Amino acid sequence: MIVLAIETTCDETAAAVIDDELRVLSSVVASQAGLHEIYNGVVPEIAARAHVERILPVIDETLTKANVSLNDLDAIAVANTPGLSGSLLVGVAAAKALCLASSKPLIAVNHLHAHVFACQFASDIPIYPCVGLVVSGGHTHLYHYQSSIEYRFLGGTIDDAAGEAFDKVASMLGLPYPGGPSISKAAMAGDPQAHAFPRSFLKEDKISFSFSGLKTAVRYAITGPGKFEIEPEKLSGQAVADLAASFQQAVVDCLVVKSVQAVKQTCSQNQRRLCVGGGVAANRVLRDQLAVECEKHQIELTFAKMEHCTDNAVMGAIAIERLKAGLVEDMDLDILPGLIRNPV
Ligand code: KG4
Ligand code: ZN
Repeated sequence: MIVLAIETTCDETAAAVIDDELRVLSSVVASQAGLHEIYNGVVPEIAARAHVERILPVIDETLTKANVSLNDLDAIAVANTPGLSGSLLVGVAAAKALCLASSKPLIAVNHLHAHVFACQFASDIPIYPCVGLVVSGGHTHLYHYQSSIEYRFLGGTIDDAAGEAFDKVASMLGLPYPGGPSISKAAMAGDPQAHAFPRSFLKEDKISFSFSGLKTAVRYAITGPGKFEIEPEKLSGQAVADLAASFQQAVVDCLVVKSVQAVKQTCSQNQRRLCVGGGVAANRVLRDQLAVECEKHQIELTFAKMEHCTDNAVMGAIAIERLKAGLVEDMDLDILPGLIRNPV
C-alpha cells in the first residue's frame, strides 16, 4: 500500500509518500517560520494564505521525488484535527480535490496521534500499547494508546502548551522565534538552578500541566516584581542564559514527572512504554532527563527521530492503520480545530 499524506495544521506545508512497511518514499516540508518570525508567533491568516500558495507545488514535488503518480496511490490522507481553521481547510480541500479527481479513498489523520505514531519510525518493535506524550507548540497532553486508533485521554495542560511557553519566554528574552531551539541554545551557558521557578501539579497524582504561571514568573524575574514593561536588551548574556536554563528545567521537570506518573498509573508492570512526539520532543534536556527517569522506573522509552518531532507529513503514515481498519471518510469530512479528547 502507498499513501500520500498531507499536513497543514499550523505553519508547515508538508506532504509525504509512505508505504505500509513504513518506508518513506519522499517527504517535503515547506516551513513558514520566516514569515512569522517578526511576529514572534504564528499569525493564522498569514499561515492559511501561505498554505494556499504552497500546497500544490509541495504535493507535486512529493509525488515527483517518490516517483509515483496519483494513480499509484492506495489512499490520500490529510490531518483534519486539531489545528488552525484556515490552515486545516487548505489541506482538507486539497486532499478532497485529489481524491475526487483520482477516485482514491480519503483518510482523516488526527495530528496529535500522528505525532505519537512518528515514534514507530524510531522503533523496530510495535510501539503500542503505550502512553504517548504529545508536546508541541499547541498541545501538551498524555494519552493511553491500546493501538493507533484506540486511545484514552489521560490529562494535559489547563492553559498554555509547553512549546507555546518556550516561544513566549524566548520573545521576553529577546531570542528569535521559534523559541524552543533558541532557548535550548541560550540555556547551554546558563545555570538551571539560578531561578526557583514554579512547577505546577508536581506533587499531585493528577495528570495535568500548567505553564502560564511559569511564564509570569519569568516575566517578573526579568522586570522585577510589580513592573510589566520588558526590556530584554538590558539583560546581560549571562542573565539571559540563566533565565533560559531555569525556565527550560522547570518545563522539563513537569513533563518528566507527569509522564512517568501517567505510565505507572496506567500500564501494567511488564508493559511500561512511553512514546514522545511533537516539536518540544526535540529538546535535548528533556530527552536526556526522561531517559534517566525511564530507566529508573523500568519504562521502555521511544522518542520520535529529531526530523519527525516538528510538524511533518511522514507521521501521517498513521493513516495506513486507519485504511487497514476500513476507516475511510466521505467528502463531507470537515475540519475540527479543537481538541477531541477521546475517539468519536
Ligand atoms: O509540533 P510542532 O512543529 O507544531 C505544533 O504542532 O505545535 O511544534 C512546534 C513547537 C514550537 O513551540 C517550538 O518552539 C517547539 O516546538 N520546539 C522546541 C524545540 N524545537 C522546537 N521546544 C523546546 N526545545 C526544542 N529543541
Ligand atoms: Zn504538531
